Amino acid sequence: MRIVVMVSGSGTNLQSILDAAEAGLLEADIAAVGADQECQGLERARRAGIRTFVLAPGDHSDREAWNRALEERLAGLEPDCIVFAGFMRIVDARLVERFERRIVNTHPSLLPAFPGAHGVRDALAYGVRITGVTVHFVDSGVDTGPILEQAAVPVVEGDTEGTLHERIKVQERSLLVTTIKKLSAAGLG
Ligand code: GRF
Repeated sequence: MRIVVMVSGSGTNLQSILDAAEAGLLEADIAAVGADQECQGLERARRAGIRTFVLAPGDHSDREAWNRALEERLAGLEPDCIVFAGFMRIVDARLVERFERRIVNTHPSLLPAFPGAHGVRDALAYGVRITGVTVHFVDSGVDTGPILEQAAVPVVEGDTEGTLHERIKVQERSLLVTTIKKLSAAGLG
């Protein structure tokens, strides 16, 4: 399976994919890592010798132009699977349709609860005792696509957004790798 990973930030989920690939645990080639801005995730990819690209929305005339540029860049890489690993951008319906059931996203809550950019903060504010992580296919909504895998993470006394998110990310990193393995075995690529 040929995968392209998209990131926006620290890239620890990406790192778990890179480590699994390096250890021969993933039947997948990482064709490229892309981002919407310069970030630590890109540095991780470069260190691993993976080709990188940046497509910043601000460098395009509007959202439509950015979406089309991203769509073409991705298409040129001929991915079997595109992984949004902490990619904090919403892509439009046309891009999603082009890669239907090929884009996988990870989200730090038990969807459909707490979609959006602040899933951890919102779960904590609501007062849930259990939250977690969801790996799902991307559809044209925000965090609404078909669920692939989930893992629960309990909220503990004294949790802050930071401590809870860190515990979720421990689960998230292994769940993402497991999901990619399953998709690869199922013949997505
Ligand atoms: C992850 O929890 C992801 O689900 C969320 O942002 C975090 C990214 O972490 N959207 P990292 O960049 O992989 O370290």
